[in-house]
Amino acid sequence: MPEFKVDARGAIEIWTIDGEGRRNAISRAMLQELGALVARVTSGRQVRAVIITGAGDKAFCAGADLKERATMVESEVRAFLEGLRQTFRAIEHSDCVFIAAINGSAFGGGTELALACDLRVAAPAAELGLTEVKLGIIPGGGGTQRLTRLVGPGRAKDLILTARRINAAEAFSIGLVNRLAPEGHLLEVAYGLAEAVVENAPVAVASAKHAIDEGMGLELDEALALELRKYEEVLKTEDRLEGLRAFAEKRPPVYKGR
Ligand code: COA
Repeated sequence: MPEFKVDARGAIEIWTIDGEGRRNAISRAMLQELGALVARVTSGRQVRAVIITGAGDKAFCAGADLKERATMVESEVRAFLEGLRQTFRAIEHSDCVFIAAINGSAFGGGTELALACDLRVAAPAAELGLTEVKLGIIPGGGGTQRLTRLVGPGRAKDLILTARRINAAEAFSIGLVNRLAPEGHLLEVAYGLAEAVVENAPVAVASAKHAIDEGMGLELDEALALELRKYEEVLKTEDRLEGLRAFAEKRPPVYKGR
């Protein structure tokens, strides 16, 4: 049984975690399939934006599959975490832009999956939280680091140390989600974001994504040097010249990704 429903629409794909009965929790099978999907779009280059969402209206993803976890010995938990970390990292390393469309609860690994994405859109009923310390563990899919980078250490500690669950409005107010979608319009808003991304020059979008991600941990002078190296990548492209031509000719550009 596939773990995801894939709706392929050319440059944009929508991946729906198809595990409503377990609130779209991350099982080993689901993680393996996610890894394969990410690898496909990363090597293929035709897909430029991916929307990840969950089946049903209850949960985006309820974190690690806790029923499966209860059957795992320590070494299996370690192997699962390693897979989780590699898959989330692959999302970040990909030239594709990933958008989490958070349709309901996103706890633990569910919030971490959303954090590994480039952009986050939330439905009004969405709830987020890194609730791990309540379960005697800590976030293991990068949550302590990615949440801190996104919202700062004060807010990250407020959320992680209390394990509290926050609603979509609070998540938006602290910058944890980029857009709040009106009731019933989550995928429309996420799709609109994806369309706005894929209209732009492919190499430029990828270079800008990596400049932001890779520069974040660097001291400013090093980060600015990184930006310059990323600029070199776009300087050589035909698309840069097409952008200038289209501007002069007052028409939309036709980008080829080279
Ligand atoms: N792993 C495995 N199964 C899960 C799960 C998880 N993380 N979260 C929910 N489920 C299962 C429940 O066990 C239940 O299965 P059952 O029908 O066999 O009893 C089913 O999904 C529905 O769960 P329920 O709690 O009744 O659904 P809900 O819609 O009322 O609430 C949540 C959804 C996500 C708010 C709630 O299930 C929850 O809090 N889950 C735990 C999330 C969590 O702490 N994750 C952090 C992991 S570190």
